[in-house]
Amino acid sequence: MAIVFQEKTKVFHLYNEKISYVMTVLPEGSIGNLYYGRRLNDNEYLLNLYQSRRRDMSACSFDDDIFTLDDMKQEYPQYGHGDLRNPAYKIEQDNGSTICEFVYDHHEIIQGKPPLENLPGCYVEKIAEAETLIITLKDSLIEMEMKLFYTIYRDYPIITRHCEFYTAGKEVVLERALSMCLDLPDSNYQMITFTGAWARERAVTRRDLQIGVQSIYSLRGNGSSAQMNPFFMLARKNTTEQAGEAIGFSFVYSGNFLGQAEVDNYHVTRVLMGIHPECFSWHLAQNDHFVTPEVILTYSDEGFNGLSIPLHKLLRTRLARGYWRDRERPVLINNWEATYFDFDEEKIINLAAKAKSIGIELFVLDDGWFGERNSDKSSLGDWYVNTSKLPGGITGLAEKIEGLGMKFGIWIEPESINADSDLYRSHSQWVLQVPGRRMSPSRNQFILDFSNDEVVDYLAERIDSLLATAKISYVKWDMNRSLSEAFSLAASADKQQMVMHKYILNLYRLYEYLTSRHPEVLFESCSSGGARFDCGMLYYAPQTWASDDTDAWQRCQIQYGTSYGYPISMIGSHVSASPNHQLGRNTPLTTRANVAYFGTFGYEMDITECTEEELDEMKKQIEFMKENRRLIQQGDFYRLVSPFETNNNAWMVVNENKSKAIAGFYQCLNTINQGYYYLKLQGLDPDQLYQVDDKRYYGDVLMNVGICVDERKINGDFYSKIYLIEAV
Ligand code: GLA
Repeated sequence: MAIVFQEKTKVFHLYNEKISYVMTVLPEGSIGNLYYGRRLNDNEYLLNLYQSRRRDMSACSFDDDIFTLDDMKQEYPQYGHGDLRNPAYKIEQDNGSTICEFVYDHHEIIQGKPPLENLPGCYVEKIAEAETLIITLKDSLIEMEMKLFYTIYRDYPIITRHCEFYTAGKEVVLERALSMCLDLPDSNYQMITFTGAWARERAVTRRDLQIGVQSIYSLRGNGSSAQMNPFFMLARKNTTEQAGEAIGFSFVYSGNFLGQAEVDNYHVTRVLMGIHPECFSWHLAQNDHFVTPEVILTYSDEGFNGLSIPLHKLLRTRLARGYWRDRERPVLINNWEATYFDFDEEKIINLAAKAKSIGIELFVLDDGWFGERNSDKSSLGDWYVNTSKLPGGITGLAEKIEGLGMKFGIWIEPESINADSDLYRSHSQWVLQVPGRRMSPSRNQFILDFSNDEVVDYLAERIDSLLATAKISYVKWDMNRSLSEAFSLAASADKQQMVMHKYILNLYRLYEYLTSRHPEVLFESCSSGGARFDCGMLYYAPQTWASDDTDAWQRCQIQYGTSYGYPISMIGSHVSASPNHQLGRNTPLTTRANVAYFGTFGYEMDITECTEEELDEMKKQIEFMKENRRLIQQGDFYRLVSPFETNNNAWMVVNENKSKAIAGFYQCLNTINQGYYYLKLQGLDPDQLYQVDDKRYYGDVLMNVGICVDERKINGDFYSKIYLIEAV
């Protein structure tokens, strides 16, 4: 790995064994992109990649009539000097102008990776793991500096990027401050996005790039959203799971975002990603600064699996942090689908005792334990125990559960408030609202003004003392509505457009406070299922509830889609009842577990109602998961057969030395008198002999011919099978 600056040609070359990223200082002083892709040798001729051509009718930077920004591939462009595409930033100055002239001033190359101020980001453990280039550009008229950050990792085909703005003597307003721009030389790409809605998150959407703008975004304020995930890829038309070029863009942020690909009339593709400029404008005083969130760029010329495997590894080990980062995740039971709001202490203890008897390690008490919360109409905000439900309080219940030999966890939704709550009655000014205008409830609740430090300080104290007084080992942090009327009674008129980003900064501050005060508590993030499944959350909470939809077949799709951008160890996945509560569909218990294994694994159903036979099966499932969870949660995950394209789903995990693998095969509906079906595996050692069921095969056979899946015809709809593949 190296970052090289060629003084003579003003070329920057960032490279490691897999990738190269080449830039240069353009004639007018901004930074241009020369190349991003598979590794190139470093040499003095890289500047020959620079191209400029006379464009009739374009505004030129000089009298020579040749250099125009109109078709330049740029690193962080603006609008106003001849580039007519969408810009990366916009700065309003005191004379009303938004036109800047940032020119290259100097750069630094440092070992390691500096953290982002008050924002989540990837990190290194040893400085030798990465190198960082910081390019400083200056606009002397407005006395501002812009710093472009690029970190290249030694062991991953990954570059992280963000930008920082610094003022000196003048105030300005940032109207747009995206995290990165990447201009690619052609447009022969498809855009692959992960779209959906509540309970059907992250479905794979693949479309050809067209001239014009194609984008994904969230304007939900406090959530990256179930509708469009802040991870997308550009890939060549022929890219498959195993082969072909793809570039991944992961935004390390949990609020409003924009990710877009714009194809211009010269077929250059401009990719932009960052905080959505709508509802954003940031006042910078004199000697002030602004830091954009980070974007992770992952390059693969080995298909989508070649992209997601190193990305998973980086996110799992250099974005996730803390005590639980490398630990096997506990098998849990959550009482939500078992009881909803209808529980008392006896019911909970019975459920926990049964769970303990089959080997479950952690009991999670979901919504309904606080205030007067017997439905979703009241009490959010009142983080005090409901003693009519739990006479011994959370402390007493936690002790009883611990007494059974299990760990205990709770659900919270700190950002929300019901009008019917003590907190609302005493502090209604803490709720986001526009004076004189109606408020829009959602799930009977409103949103606390997290842009107001006072509100967040109150919650920090409240939740901290809850975690300090009871033996709580796990917290499910939920958030069940989007922002509306996002106006802060605590902010002045000129600062209202800062409210949404400030909300996210304070959300991160609260997470940072609580996770550092309670380092051994396992935090699972959640937002009406998977509406805040993003890299920002992963920095604080190593796992995220993937979806409120727990149907086994739907989960094949949700988990398959999610795995393109996120590691398996992050995917909260539970076995639930049949018929399923969301779809009413019946699926075999075996299949429900076979799907949930490929995640964090747990149960979310009333197991006190289960037969002895079912409990026996669950016991075996739990033993299987305990035995294999390290491999599943930390191995290399390969998608094999897409449930979006076929009647089947298949995926597998392989350990580091390729001596053990686990594959899951799943069928949706049964068909009659079908042909032989061969499941081709990936990631094995071709020269290694493996045992699969009662047969032996070499790795090359398993990968090129496959396992013949031959039991489907008798087992019907939603059949599934787990294959253990062990080196002999
Ligand atoms: C959200 C979560 C669920 C559950 C309920 C409780 O919908 O996604 O898992 O916790 O809230 O109200």
